[in-house]
Amino acid sequence: MSNISILIGTMLGASEYVADHLAALLSPQHEVNVDMEPALDRYQLTDQQTWIICTSTHGAGDFPDNILPFVEALTQQKPDLSAIKYAVCALGDRNYDTFCKAGISIDHLLETLGATRLTAINLIDVNTGEIPEDSAQLWLEQWINDLK
Ligand SMILES: Cc1cc2nc3c(=O)[nH]c(=O)nc-3n(C[C@H](O)[C@H](O)[C@H](O)COP(=O)(O)O)c2cc1C
Repeated sequence: MSNISILIGTMLGASEYVADHLAALLSPQHEVNVDMEPALDRYQLTDQQTWIICTSTHGAGDFPDNILPFVEALTQQKPDLSAIKYAVCALGDRNYDTFCKAGISIDHLLETLGATRLTAINLIDVNTGEIPEDSAQLWLEQWINDLK
């Protein structure tokens, strides 16, 4: 059993639906916490844990407001994240030059701070007509068995 937190960045709710779907898939086997208001100081960074970041991109490549304080705290405090394993599921729209920029940025930031990437970022284009939860599920199924 892994201790998993799903940290959400959302403006309109789509990423929250994806996060809830991932939580439902994970929760039979793991301890899962869905975090709509991620705050860095609520995490005990020395404990082994897994973070799944589920975030959209807004503005012109910006983070949603609810996850911005978390990203700013990481950027300013530069904590050691070597106990953290993580994966990023990013929602965006390919019509923007800044497609999934928030997800891509946090993926790089976490790696820079020493966290271990469990799998490649999942870039979901919400404009394809595909259901984002389906894409997220296919992505999760590729690596879910790596979680101990
Ligand atoms: C005002 C606005 C700005 C957006 N800017 C971007 C962007 O820069 N890059 C991107 O990939 N998607 C962008 N999007 C698309 C959203 O990321 C997409 O609609 C996503 O599904 C929203 O997820 P959420 O409901 O979790 O916020 C934008 C959407 C809106 C409404």
